[in-house]
Amino acid sequence: MNTFEELESNVRYYCRRWPAVFAQAHGATILDEDGVAYLDFFAGAGALSYGHNNPALVEVAIEHLRAGKLMHSLDTFTVEKRNFLAAVQRYVLEPRQLDMVVQTVGPTGATAVEAALQLAQRITGARAVVGFEGSYHGMTYRTASISASMAGRKTSAHLKDFVALPYVANVTDDDLDVLARTLRTDVDGQRIGAVIVEPTQGEGGARPFDPAYLRAIREQCTELGILVIADEVQAGVGRTGPFFSFEGSSLDPDIICLSKSISGLGVPMAINLVRRSLDTWSPGEFSGTFRGNNLAFATSATMLETYWSDAELEKSTEQKGLTVRNSLQHMASEYGRGAFTVRGNGLLCGLDVADTELAAKIAEDAFRRRLIVETCGAGDTTVKLLTPLVISDDELNEGLDRLHDAVAYATSH
Ligand SMILES: Cc1ncc(COP(=O)(O)O)c(C=O)c1O
Repeated sequence: MNTFEELESNVRYYCRRWPAVFAQAHGATILDEDGVAYLDFFAGAGALSYGHNNPALVEVAIEHLRAGKLMHSLDTFTVEKRNFLAAVQRYVLEPRQLDMVVQTVGPTGATAVEAALQLAQRITGARAVVGFEGSYHGMTYRTASISASMAGRKTSAHLKDFVALPYVANVTDDDLDVLARTLRTDVDGQRIGAVIVEPTQGEGGARPFDPAYLRAIREQCTELGILVIADEVQAGVGRTGPFFSFEGSSLDPDIICLSKSISGLGVPMAINLVRRSLDTWSPGEFSGTFRGNNLAFATSATMLETYWSDAELEKSTEQKGLTVRNSLQHMASEYGRGAFTVRGNGLLCGLDVADTELAAKIAEDAFRRRLIVETCGAGDTTVKLLTPLVISDDELNEGLDRLHDAVAYATSH
């Protein structure tokens, strides 16, 4: 461990929660250098929805490298990009009747959000942004400015052309009034150009918005010529069951930001899906060296074909999500004394324990029991479960048993 302490910046974070040196991983299991196996209920903050080293995708990656295919290509045409674009069209856009184009951006979620905000400003001529309390959009200056501050991850970034509305679980007339007023009011002397929303908040504590509220956002924004950006970086690519977490809500976003699990293998990649009629970029206006990650294109195309050519994965995610929430509900009634709440949908779930220290204690004890879970939410009071979508029932039940023991221990010590 000394190497890390001596040579790595103090900003390191997750390693403080999970003080092991990891060496190998497969599926929902991650092993440290001594061969100790942990169940991974964090899945790379949602970047490993298809498991560590998914065998089908590993084969694609090995073949890609062996055959001497391109790794880096900026945004030139490549065979892999053509296959990827066709797979997005066939398995994602067409079935949902979305007339959108793919914009490749630098490989992080934050870059996708940056690009979305810049396009919205370009189209509307309005710079201010409306977002939501509890949201998280990244760590660049702009994306951090439109994110909620979380304990342990505070940033000094605070651009002023942003206003955060409250998270809405069950919409009321008051919420609609506040939304309508906010969208019509300048912020820091700037008109509102975009609303950005995580339809199910990830870092904010596994919190789905009321679909009726998402529909209201769409209606109001259409009326005012404001763009709707769905940040699906964490909740998308099947995490909540359907491919997009907004499905069924009528949010009908103008721009959809995707990253994390879009490559399937954890290879960094981010894209925006942009409504075709709004794709008004001029060539090169938004650029970046690491667009066109051909390895990620190749694994992503296979992931889309393998998991999104039918409804099996979506059904299994919903089923496993029910198992998780039933189990969390059980823990809440047994140990929560009325203070715990269960949240989320699909396999983006959380147990909010209304107490920062208790949540940290549960996560710490879970690690002692070889289970990796993270805390999140404003105040870090939610124990969040992001299992790989491909986790087996046995592993899922085993992990939930370990979490149950951790909750029992932490609430009684
Ligand atoms: C919803 C959401 N948007 C954006 C980001 C930023 O992605 P990245 O860390 O790849 O910049 C995250 C990261 O957790 C996220 O959860």
